[in-house]
Amino acid sequence: MEDLSLHLLDVAENSLAAQATRVIITLEINTANKTLRLIIEDNGQGMDKQTLKKAVDPFFTTKKTRRIGLGLSLLAQAAHATGGQFSIESKPGQGTKVSTLFYTDHWDFKPLGDIPQTLLTLVLGHPEVELIFIYRRDDKETIFSTKEVKAKLNGLPLNSPAAIPLIMNHINKAMNL
Ligand SMILES: Nc1ncnc2c1ncn2[C@@H]1O[C@H](COP(=O)(O)OP(=O)(O)OP(=O)(O)O)[C@@H](O)[C@H]1O
Ligand SMILES: [Mg+2]
Repeated sequence: MEDLSLHLLDVAENSLAAQATRVIITLEINTANKTLRLIIEDNGQGMDKQTLKKAVDPFFTTKKTRRIGLGLSLLAQAAHATGGQFSIESKPGQGTKVSTLFYTDHWDFKPLGDIPQTLLTLVLGHPEVELIFIYRRDDKETIFSTKEVKAKLNGLPLNSPAAIPLIMNHINKAMNL
């Protein structure tokens, strides 16, 4: 995967596959330390200890269509390649939290990619799921939440064409674009 937004999409799709009704994505950039943290937390079905242990193994997947599950192992690799960290916590029936740390000045740091587009894709693909995106850059924090957008739509579904500009607007504002 060539950029972090694609990793984000993949890990968030895991949450949705695990029937999460809420996904919290935190992107934290520290320019002084030259670090980037990406955390994806869900309230989906979670994993037991055994499944969790195997989850970062590229040859483990619970998908029926393919034999190899690459998403988490590729993300772990990408983080480790920059000298960073990867961890995953999960509780059956409660949810899962995937945390990564990247060193942005390392040769192997991949570009961030199009985060707004990725968030839009997630929202439009799963309008029933509550998505919260927390963006921190040094001491500034902004938040995008589908709940907030929904409140402005007067019952119009999040994935209706008329809602798209409003969603984009909120996402871009959250990322100070
Ligand atoms: N958020 C999550 N909640 C519950 N189970 C998860 C979660 N994330 C991963 N898993 C479990 O870990 C396995 C491996 O995930 P991974 O993303 O690495 O591969 P995959 O989703 O199976 O395939 P791919 O991402 O390559 O399409 C999944 O099949 C699933 O069983
Ligand atoms: Mg996956």
